[in-house]
Amino acid sequence: MKDLESTIKLLAARGKGILAADESSPTITKRFAAVNVESTEETRRAYRDMLVTTPGVNEFIAGVILFEETLNQKALDGTPFPKKLEQLGIVPGIKVDKGLVILPNTADEQVTQGLDGLSERLVDYRAKGARFAKWRAVYAISDHTPSMLAIKTNAECLARYAAICQANGIVPIVEPEVLIDGAHTIERSAEVSERVLNAVFHALKKHKVQLEYIVLKPSMVINGKTCPVKASCDEVAKATITVLKRTVPAAVPTINFLSGGQSSEEATANLNAMNALFGHLPWNVSYSYARALQDKPMKLWHGDSQQVKAAQQAFYHRAKLNSLASVGKYTVSMEKETATA
Ligand code: 13P
Repeated sequence: MKDLESTIKLLAARGKGILAADESSPTITKRFAAVNVESTEETRRAYRDMLVTTPGVNEFIAGVILFEETLNQKALDGTPFPKKLEQLGIVPGIKVDKGLVILPNTADEQVTQGLDGLSERLVDYRAKGARFAKWRAVYAISDHTPSMLAIKTNAECLARYAAICQANGIVPIVEPEVLIDGAHTIERSAEVSERVLNAVFHALKKHKVQLEYIVLKPSMVINGKTCPVKASCDEVAKATITVLKRTVPAAVPTINFLSGGQSSEEATANLNAMNALFGHLPWNVSYSYARALQDKPMKLWHGDSQQVKAAQQAFYHRAKLNSLASVGKYTVSMEKETATA
């Protein structure tokens, strides 16, 4: 309990967020391919070293979620990554789910696997320095999905995972992602998100998960990518906070959004609008982005050690803007500031 308390205190620190650097090997390979970088153990190590050793980034980043490979790797100076993060005052975390499989008897909806042996794996991860974990469930929106079966099955898995984490002194990030793919409206996204979050919190309660020691990582309530009507930042903020107020108990200390395919600028502006428009929210409202934090730094780096400084400056700048957004103090004009680390 003491461990859960000290970890959540660090993760929920106002003005700070979480970097998701836990792309699985197939996912990082895809991202690297887009910037013409071969994905090898060494390039992945060099890239993640570039991110976490960015000077000063610990002002804005409270925790980093690692993929298992990185948890076991050493940073370029020979220090194991978890130790390196600790030295920098950043809490190391670990993605523990084992990805998505089709849920039979649905319209190819997906459920997340990885519960078998989870407790034993957590003991090992913890010994290696991990203090929090992540499990991602996904829900695709179509006219007929997500089904109640998919919603309930994923909620049950998220809750079992969270309970197992807490039993091992690990703070669980509970991540139900309503996908942005599709032509759905923001209203439909709100309706689905509300149903999903209701089921998740119902299951968390059933499994006696202590809400004081979780991080909720939801998607924002937003129109689908190909929806002809694009919601403004204020509309996204209002719809998202409305759904969260209806579903997320005040006992939850912090909500850290995923970026889910929004551009870096959009993800920052939407987060800012939530904190600027709503003064007294019961939870810290912050970020746990992967793509929206990494897009520009990854492009600048593109596997070239000569570009590490430029990439780090871009990463520092993006993290700073998101930190400002997490307290409602970001403005679009800051996008033009020179990025200096
Ligand atoms: P994105 O911010 O790129 O959506 O990734 C967040 C994440 O951790 C997905 O599980």
